[in-house]
Amino acid sequence: MDNKIKTLQQKREQALLGGGEARIAAQHKKGKLTARERLHFLLDEGSFQEIGMLVTHRSTDFGMEKENYPGDGVVTGYGNINGRLVYVFSQDFTVFGGSLSETHAEKICKIMDLALKNGAPVVGLNDSGGARIQEGVVSLGGYADIFYRNTLASGVVPQISAIMGPCAGGAVYSPAITDFILMVENTSYMFVTGPNVVKTVTHEEVTSEELGGATTHATKSGVTHFACPNEIVAIQHIKNLLSYMPQNCEDKAPALPYQPANETRPDLNSILPENASQPYDIREIISQVIDAGSFLEVHKDFAENIVVGFARLAGRSIGIVANQPAFLAGVLDIHSSTKAARFVRFCDSFNIPLLVFEDVPGFLPGTDQEWNAIITNGAKLLYAYCEATVPRVTVITRKAYGGAYDVMNSKHIGADINYAWPSAEIAVMGAKGAAEIIFKREINHAEDKEAKWQEKEQLYSQIFANPYRAAERGFIDEVIEPADTRVKLIHAFKMLENKVVNNPRKKHGNIPL
Ligand code: COA
Repeated sequence: MDNKIKTLQQKREQALLGGGEARIAAQHKKGKLTARERLHFLLDEGSFQEIGMLVTHRSTDFGMEKENYPGDGVVTGYGNINGRLVYVFSQDFTVFGGSLSETHAEKICKIMDLALKNGAPVVGLNDSGGARIQEGVVSLGGYADIFYRNTLASGVVPQISAIMGPCAGGAVYSPAITDFILMVENTSYMFVTGPNVVKTVTHEEVTSEELGGATTHATKSGVTHFACPNEIVAIQHIKNLLSYMPQNCEDKAPALPYQPANETRPDLNSILPENASQPYDIREIISQVIDAGSFLEVHKDFAENIVVGFARLAGRSIGIVANQPAFLAGVLDIHSSTKAARFVRFCDSFNIPLLVFEDVPGFLPGTDQEWNAIITNGAKLLYAYCEATVPRVTVITRKAYGGAYDVMNSKHIGADINYAWPSAEIAVMGAKGAAEIIFKREINHAEDKEAKWQEKEQLYSQIFANPYRAAERGFIDEVIEPADTRVKLIHAFKMLENKVVNNPRKKHGNIPL
């Protein structure tokens, strides 16, 4: 028996070494951790249980039978993060560049199947040269097996992808289907085709970093939700992100203990600029309303005219969507609509209540927006809110103009409680523009056109640039003093805790894509 145990130990030791010491040193030299080191930092100490440590590839082409490493370039299994079960895979770049073989894919599929059956999140740490070139179509089949499972698991268990090295070609589509992507600055990149192909096809000269590095995807494309300065920060982000989520769609996110205290926030009464066309940072309002320091902003540097992220209110997890007057006056455009729509759908899938702060002058005009389908893209956000059945509360701080009023979680599309501050202006458009249209003839015939315009602007403003018309109709449930916002929200979300809404039964809706 001793010999047999020794054989097992030897096999394990070999697997722990991945592609060998030289390749591990090369990995470190690039500023990257190994697959196992990453799992060590991600999971609670001693909680990792490996599955498939001794799996090897079956390839015999190109002399591959002579080159075999137990584990085949991916470490898979399960463990705990802050005491909660997660399934993990971590690609090992030291074995065939972390490339995906048939068996490598089978290992990932196995833990995804377990995650679905047992209702716990999947965290994938990606670091791979793509399809195992020596295996051809078998490897491509492996990718598709993963994509299929990613899609089936979508909305059932949270799926998080961290990109910690290359992720190119077909490999990008698994992370793309998952709920959140994190990338590490300077050591990771994602693209469908790399700089060489780009140069051949479009004659553009671009580096990997420019084409698909963390900063590019965090600012230009929005492909990644987080750009992290290093791997350790990325791993901390994953843990933090998971703390706001339930284990699966049947569950609720864990709540932190909450001690009721004086919840009024007098500073909010003077937080808005005197002039309604002056910008302010909506994050200042968010931070006063939520539990101190609990905001985890998602997509921070992409489509900055809308702010989305997780927070806690009285210890409970909520998702926040907020127009950002400090950027493009908080206007809705293509990117901000799709960014917010995806976030709303995530929260709704996983029973995370939604809090919406509204200060929106409307949709962004222009050929660029129209030709790139602001209609279809704006409809995504509208659709996402309409179908969301989680508790939904809106606070209108200032402007709620035009169609954007309807879109931003209005009462009419299923919001539960809608508050407005006394500074709210709920109207079809701003007073100046409105006066120009409806009093055009009077203004044109006036001797002093400018004075007439101003007079009419004031008139329109008196009638509509306030929250009271909407409150009279019941479109606003209560006009509140800003200082009371936190108190009101705590009560509202507590009251909505057991909300149940069943939308009409269907196979699935057809969100405008
Ligand atoms: N299939 C099989 N082996 C691969 C591989 C792949 N897709 N990608 C990398 N490898 C192997 C390399 O042969 C090398 O093996 P070695 O350690 O025995 O020398 C090892 O992984 C590391 O690759 P290397 O090229 O030395 O690393 P790098 O950091 O300089 O470059 C890449 C990384 C990913 C840019 C580069 O390996 C690459 O371009 N790979 C191919 C990408 C691709 O076209 N994939 C298929 C389409 S999805």
